[in-house]
Amino acid sequence: MVDIAEDGRTWLLSGPGSGYALHLTGADELLHLHWGPPIALADAEELAKRPPPGPWPFESPLDGREEYPVEGGPRFVRPALSVRTGRRRGTEWRFVSYDVDGEDGTLRLRFDDDGVGVTLHYRMRGDVVERWVTVANGGPEPVELLRADAATWTLPDREGWRLSQLHGRWAAESRLITAPLTYGEKVIGSRRGHTGHQHLPWAALDTDATEERGEVYGCALGWSGSWRISVAQLPDARVQITGGAGHDDSGLLLLAPGESYTTPVFAGLWSDGGFGGASRAWHAYQRAHVIPDAERDRPVLFNSWEATYFDITEEQQAALARRAAEIGVELFVVDDGWFGARTSDRAGLGDWTPSPDRFPRGLKPLADHVHALGMRFGIWVEPEMVNPDSELYRARPDWVQHHPGRTRTELRNQLVLNLAREDVREYLWEHLDTLLSSAPIDYVKWDFNRCFTDAGWPGEPYPQRLWVDHVRALYALLDRLRAAHPRVAFESCSGGGGRIDLGMLGRTDQVWTSDNTDPLDRLAIQHGFTQLHPARVMAAWVTDSPNTQLNGRASSLRFRFVSAMAGVLGVGGDLTRWSPRERTEARRWVELYKEIRPLVQHGELYRLRPPTGGLSAVQYLRGEQTVVLAWLQAQHYGEPVPTVRLRGLDPSASYECRETGEVHRGAVLLHHGLRTGLKGDLDATVLRLRRI
Ligand code: GLA
Repeated sequence: MVDIAEDGRTWLLSGPGSGYALHLTGADELLHLHWGPPIALADAEELAKRPPPGPWPFESPLDGREEYPVEGGPRFVRPALSVRTGRRRGTEWRFVSYDVDGEDGTLRLRFDDDGVGVTLHYRMRGDVVERWVTVANGGPEPVELLRADAATWTLPDREGWRLSQLHGRWAAESRLITAPLTYGEKVIGSRRGHTGHQHLPWAALDTDATEERGEVYGCALGWSGSWRISVAQLPDARVQITGGAGHDDSGLLLLAPGESYTTPVFAGLWSDGGFGGASRAWHAYQRAHVIPDAERDRPVLFNSWEATYFDITEEQQAALARRAAEIGVELFVVDDGWFGARTSDRAGLGDWTPSPDRFPRGLKPLADHVHALGMRFGIWVEPEMVNPDSELYRARPDWVQHHPGRTRTELRNQLVLNLAREDVREYLWEHLDTLLSSAPIDYVKWDFNRCFTDAGWPGEPYPQRLWVDHVRALYALLDRLRAAHPRVAFESCSGGGGRIDLGMLGRTDQVWTSDNTDPLDRLAIQHGFTQLHPARVMAAWVTDSPNTQLNGRASSLRFRFVSAMAGVLGVGGDLTRWSPRERTEARRWVELYKEIRPLVQHGELYRLRPPTGGLSAVQYLRGEQTVVLAWLQAQHYGEPVPTVRLRGLDPSASYECRETGEVHRGAVLLHHGLRTGLKGDLDATVLRLRRI
């Protein structure tokens, strides 16, 4: 909902539990007034009357107060908008108009600087404020956009801000770290062409929040290419966060007369429910407004990667499929190695037709076999890449990103196709469309296994645009494929969690959280991941023990299953080598997962104890039912294992535990906790409770 003051220069956006207000001064300065608990328009109007600080010759009267600081004038903060024309640089805008879109309540504020139009968009989705910006060149000459952030967020004056971020690297993504913010800027981002394993495009600020209490401000960017979020504590201790596509300010796009650029969405959320409350609000937002078909259950999948790596045949996959069906798997995915000359990572990328040696009859017979077993059928692709040893590269060496006369840097023996080129886009569309029509394929795992290094485009007058246009082309391709093949679900993968963001989640059904399938490491990765994203998209597989991909750690099937059951359960071990006893046990876990799946995938998540070495636990709650997944990493000195205090229950109700048959009072579970029965090392359990 948007309330507007009588003079049409103060706006208040309200969600069910929050408010956001801004004001335009007589000099057309757009000031931030409020972001936090709900307020009335009169409160916003009072804030609008507060006089500016200063004046001092060495400080800006605007810094730390503006909604969207442009370059130029008395501003010393990092500009959100930096524009250059043949004649000048910077922006001096005039307010043009505002309106509120009748359909979805988007508030649009329009400004103009001599033909360069800047529109700021605001939309409330629950308590999430979505912001984005459009820059349109309405003048006669080209305009270079050096930087155009999607939004700048301004926090209220407080002492002792702390910054939380989700950092990582390959096989160690989304690990939560919190540290005090000090003066200056903290910049996170990616200059790699994809979202990156190094940071999720998310930041959260608080002063004294805990998991279930206190104010948390968070923001998350919906962009799957290079990006930057800068968190600045200004000289007067004010904090602003500005973020958008592109890592630096050296050029985003060149807008010809009549062209425009719309930034990705940068979403912001204020919550006074601590980190847990903030996460649940983010999850609800993504399920309601971002993730396609979020109300549908994600099936239990089998993925062949760790079971067979590149060494695959039709017969062997068919045998795995039989084993997978026996334990209750619902979707069978053939990973890398089914196409072209792909017997290792040295060849084949780019040639999206089944390998004549391995699948001489194409994919259809295997897909039919999988369907006959009652499962859906999926495949792995990596369409944005090419191996130099491929039919495609031999025919089209000019289709890759490269600088003339320079080394074409290979990472994992592959090069990046230039998706900004129309011919490349068409090629990919035709081949993927044909592939999806050639066999009954229900699922596509879409991978991206290297970063950009040589982002050149010979012959193109403004090659920098490749960074933005690659992502736009990827989105357009996914959107087009989804529209043409509505039965196909998509998974976003980039060497594990290298491309997870709200942009990708808007067009994929789930994501590959990490190549790290070690069930213990996963607990920390999942703890970080769920700060922002819901379990509904967080794919997790049970693989072999000892772990083959990473660290050789041995763990029980129980521990591996309970760890993976906290997200979208998958199995990735070599089932042909699992004993009958292991397969029987696996079938029981899969059955149990299917029973608790509605809670895990659609319920509310409470992180009861973080994975810091001892006991950790999460709880999912939906209606009358709740389920606790608990893990004990190591028990020391024979000390008793603590109880886990549950959340979100009715204190006056009683709850029956299916596992123990015991009945507990809600108040007891909330305040004194539930005994998990865990002991020793790497133990785990699932406890189902129902209100009676
Ligand atoms: C990436 C993915 C893996 C697997 C391999 C195949 O590393 O993250 O899950 O698909 O590629 O080459």
